[in-house]
Amino acid sequence: MGHRPPGFHSAAGCSSRTLHAIRIAQGDSSDAGVRVHGSPPRRLLHVDSTDLTPSHGRSLDTPAWNTDMRVLIACEFSGVVRDAFAARGHDAWSCDLLPTERPGQHLQCDVRDVLGDGWGLVVAHPPCDHLAVSGARWFPAKQADGRQQQAIEFFMDFVNCPSLRVAIENPVGIMSTRYRKPDQIIQPWQYGHGETKATCLWLKGLAALVPTNIVHGRTPRVHHESPGPDRWKNRSRTLDGVAQAMATQWG
Ligand SMILES: C[S@@+](CC[C@H](N)C(=O)[O-])C[C@H]1O[C@@H](n2cnc3c(N)ncnc32)[C@H](O)[C@@H]1O
Repeated sequence: MGHRPPGFHSAAGCSSRTLHAIRIAQGDSSDAGVRVHGSPPRRLLHVDSTDLTPSHGRSLDTPAWNTDMRVLIACEFSGVVRDAFAARGHDAWSCDLLPTERPGQHLQCDVRDVLGDGWGLVVAHPPCDHLAVSGARWFPAKQADGRQQQAIEFFMDFVNCPSLRVAIENPVGIMSTRYRKPDQIIQPWQYGHGETKATCLWLKGLAALVPTNIVHGRTPRVHHESPGPDRWKNRSRTLDGVAQAMATQWG
C-alpha cells in the first residue's frame, strides 16, 4: 500500500546478525499465546503531502504519515509508550531483549535486527548505564574495557536509523558531547508526576514535547525506589504522563 518510505532498508539488509526468536505477544505476556519466529506485518506507509497541516500538531517541514502509523518503541519492556500509541490507533510495537510486561505487540529480540524495517516513527530508550553522568566514577573502567564505546555505538544506531521521525531518550550524560546537545530536557513534573528526573530527548523530524500538566511536586524520582532486583526496572519504566504526551503530540 503506498510508497516505500525514503531510506527504507530491510531488516536483513541492515544487520548480519541472525534474527533470533522474535516473540510477538498478543494478549498475553507469558509464553502462552506467543508466536515465535514471527515478524510484525510490514505495512509500508504512504506519505501524503496533503497531510502536512499544522492542525495535526506537526511542523510543516515534517512528513506526515497515515494515522495508523507503524511505530517502534525500541528498548521498551514496559509497554507504556507502545500502548499510548496503540490507544490512538497506531500499529505500535515495543521491542526489547526482555519480554513485555503487559500484553501487547512486542518483539523480543535485538532491536538492531528490526530497526531498518520501515517504521514511520521510532521512539528509543537505549540503556544509559555506561553513558549517564550519574555513573561517571566508573567511566575509566568502562572506557578501558570498551563498554562505553559499545553503548555509544548502540545509541548512534538510532541516530542513523532510516526512519524519518526518531526520538531518543536518555538521562543527562556523555551523548551531549559525544553526539550533540539534546533538543530538549523534560521533567516528570511537566507531565503530571510530582518528581524530578532530567530526561534528554534528541529529536529528528519531531517537534519538542510541550508540557501537558505542570504539577507542584519536586521529589527526586530515584528516592522512591527501595533496593531490590526490580529497582532498575522501576526507575527506568517510562512514566505514563510522558508516554501520553508522546502519543498525543507525535502520533
Ligand atoms: C533504560 S531501559 C528502558 C526501559 C523503558 N523506558 C521501559 O519503559 O520499558 C533499556 C532497555 O533496553 C533493553 N535493551 C538493551 N539492549 C537491547 C537490544 N540490543 N535490543 C533490544 N533491547 C535492548 C534492556 O533490556 C532494557 O529493558
